[in-house]
Amino acid sequence: MLYGIDMNRVAVLESSTSQGFSIVVDNDGIIVDVDTDDIIMKKYREKTFQNVIEATGKSVIPGLVDGHTHPVWAGDRVHEFEMKLAGATYMEVHDAGGGIHFTVNHTCEATEDKLHTLFQSRLKAMVRAGTTLVECKSGYGLDTENEMKMLRVIDRGKKLGGIDISCTYCGAHAIPKNKTASEATKDVLENQIPAIKSQIDDQNMSVDNIDVFCEKGVFNVQQSRDILNAGKQIGLNINFHGDELNPLGSAEMGAEIGATAISHLEEITDNGILAMARSKTIAVILPTTAYILRLKPPPVRQMIDAGVPVALGSDFNPNAYCLSMPTVMHLACVNLRMSMSEALCAATINSAASLGRSDTHGSIEKGKLANLVIVDSPKWQHIIYELGCHSEIISYVIWHGEIV
Ligand code: NIG
Ligand code: FE
Repeated sequence: MLYGIDMNRVAVLESSTSQGFSIVVDNDGIIVDVDTDDIIMKKYREKTFQNVIEATGKSVIPGLVDGHTHPVWAGDRVHEFEMKLAGATYMEVHDAGGGIHFTVNHTCEATEDKLHTLFQSRLKAMVRAGTTLVECKSGYGLDTENEMKMLRVIDRGKKLGGIDISCTYCGAHAIPKNKTASEATKDVLENQIPAIKSQIDDQNMSVDNIDVFCEKGVFNVQQSRDILNAGKQIGLNINFHGDELNPLGSAEMGAEIGATAISHLEEITDNGILAMARSKTIAVILPTTAYILRLKPPPVRQMIDAGVPVALGSDFNPNAYCLSMPTVMHLACVNLRMSMSEALCAATINSAASLGRSDTHGSIEKGKLANLVIVDSPKWQHIIYELGCHSEIISYVIWHGEIV
């Protein structure tokens, strides 16, 4: 059984079943029909298809949806990986001026064009691994000028196409070196959010979500609540980092203010789980982070049993360098004890829902965008099972009906 808020909406077409299936896509890249080969042949006898992708012996799954990434940055943090392997914690590196601060320095120095080039190559790698919709955050600028620069880079990627993007403003990702947490909160509320609103109003930019790093030593629950509510007031969906390293009550706060999604949740409490189940706030689980930082794994089974909708994200960032959702699904199955069906559902329809896009993305259904992955096996499960092999196991990635 598939688990999700849109249960049963992940269609998996396998050629291991006796019936072959066909998907018909129109010129706008929309699925107009899904049925058995026999029925499609009869129905479209009079029509000539422009392109036919032969997938006999393969399976088709929805294009993967990566619910959480930080893909716009310059600078490299492989040296910190070494420090962490030697025992340093994430917050020790951060407090010593590394971590997010290191990336902020390099990203602020980088030109918009350089960030664009880096971003594009990362998006291409994601597409090769089957991702067709991705959430992309700002958050390495931390001031109006540099946050706007990052948002423009994301917006440019959105307009270029080849992959769908949900853009998240995350100006409250860390406390800038020259500010206290309350000064940083004030800057976000009084300068950054109004600047974004005027760009949205002038239609120069589209921003979809607001994010905050709600964490001990970063933004506390009240500051996070104020920032998220201010974002909500300008029409952004609330989708934030919570209860990652400490159980602060981020889940309870997010459920109360109508968050669409909360990410991480390694330290969520029983009360937090109940609150998210009640409000149907989606938990965006990031198996790479817990794995790399050797954190306590998030209690995914408990969440699923309580009725919290679970989505997946790669958390691609300089700390968790993973662009591959098949790898994320594999880690979710092995380390977090999800079934393969649950992982696929979490990496498609549920992550689409975490971005408010489950009406157009995340399943193979009439009326939805033809974002598809063709898996080179009669059994789709091979995309999860074959760890690190997505380039061999994926035959085609299709975005809006076109092979990309
Ligand atoms: O989701 N926890 C906060 N943000 C990121 C890490 C960003 C970074 O270390 O550069 C995360 O893991
Ligand atoms: Fe993150």
